[in-house]
Amino acid sequence: SLPTHVKIVEVGPRDGLQNEQQTIPAAIKIALVDMLTGAGFSNIEAASFVSPKWVPQMATSTEVMAQIARRDGVLYSALTPNMQGFEAALLARADEVVIFGSASEAFSQKNINCSIAESLERFRPVAAAAKLNGLRLRGSISCTLGCPYQGEVALDSVADVVSRMRELGCDEIDIADTIGVGTPHRVQAVMQRAAQEFPLAQLSGHFHDTYGQALANIYASLEVGIAIFHASVAGLGGCPYAKGATGNIATEDVLYLMQGLGITTGIDLHAVVDAGQFISQHLGRKAVSRAGNAIAAA
Ligand code: HMG
Ligand code: MG
Repeated sequence: SLPTHVKIVEVGPRDGLQNEQQTIPAAIKIALVDMLTGAGFSNIEAASFVSPKWVPQMATSTEVMAQIARRDGVLYSALTPNMQGFEAALLARADEVVIFGSASEAFSQKNINCSIAESLERFRPVAAAAKLNGLRLRGSISCTLGCPYQGEVALDSVADVVSRMRELGCDEIDIADTIGVGTPHRVQAVMQRAAQEFPLAQLSGHFHDTYGQALANIYASLEVGIAIFHASVAGLGGCPYAKGATGNIATEDVLYLMQGLGITTGIDLHAVVDAGQFISQHLGRKAVSRAGNAIAAA
């Protein structure tokens, strides 16, 4: 039987916006996060403390974190690739910091400019500092279902990074399909292999929808007991270091699916549709959400 409740982590303000070419004013990002808070999410990825030379759009992260209207009990997460990022996230009062690695050597080099082994060494002090300061720690693993540079990625490569992130003390680990190439049976195999190294209840599915497989992959993940999923309002996004990759699965579509399955999320779908229309209007294009556009038109 499927889980009866799932946690949806809204990643639109970070994963969704990080790749936008046009500079989005901090005020728009703040308004978006506030609308998402109002919609009832318990976890919003709101910022990324990375090099502004690598990802210019995230340079407003300090400002965004300072001005959002926080709601008690909501975790506002931030990406932190190294200690410099961690110090900024701590000052910005992030509730959760995210160390992000890869199951593929080639992607690790392109994305964070170091090998997998070097990245894990870089994460060690970040993880220790997170614990010391009482922050929640999440580990995100890219390319668990395929890599834009090396193609196939072995189950053992995923399992190795999962186990290293467990040793670092991660509270939650994301199994990410960076370029959206996974299909349901492979997703189940990866989730089950990861669950040999880390508690299933603390594993999440982070699916980009490049090949239109993300909803099927979420359903397949539910079947093996996964109960945390990442999604991006209006399907915003794309990864700067994964050419041609599209956004995460749209949050509206995931919520519509969960509603139909009778799985609770605590999130108001109509409020998310409004947030999706708001940001899409600002960006000057239609939301990439089938359910969102249908509901907005109705
Ligand atoms: P590097 O060049 O190897 O680092 O970059 P460095 O330590 O040699 O520093 C170089 C310069 O960057 C220095 O500045 C540092 O101060 C600065 P300079 O002296 O040249 O003026 N710097 C920083 N500035 C601000 N914040 C920091 C920071 N660190 C160094 N934290 C680094 C290494 C990791 C920093 C770089 O490669 C980087 O920022 N990469 C960003 C990659 C990224 O953000 N990718 C997108 C997010 S991951 C993702 O989207 C995948 C995910 O969604 C899951 C999935 O779908 O797969 C999570
Ligand atoms: Mg991503």
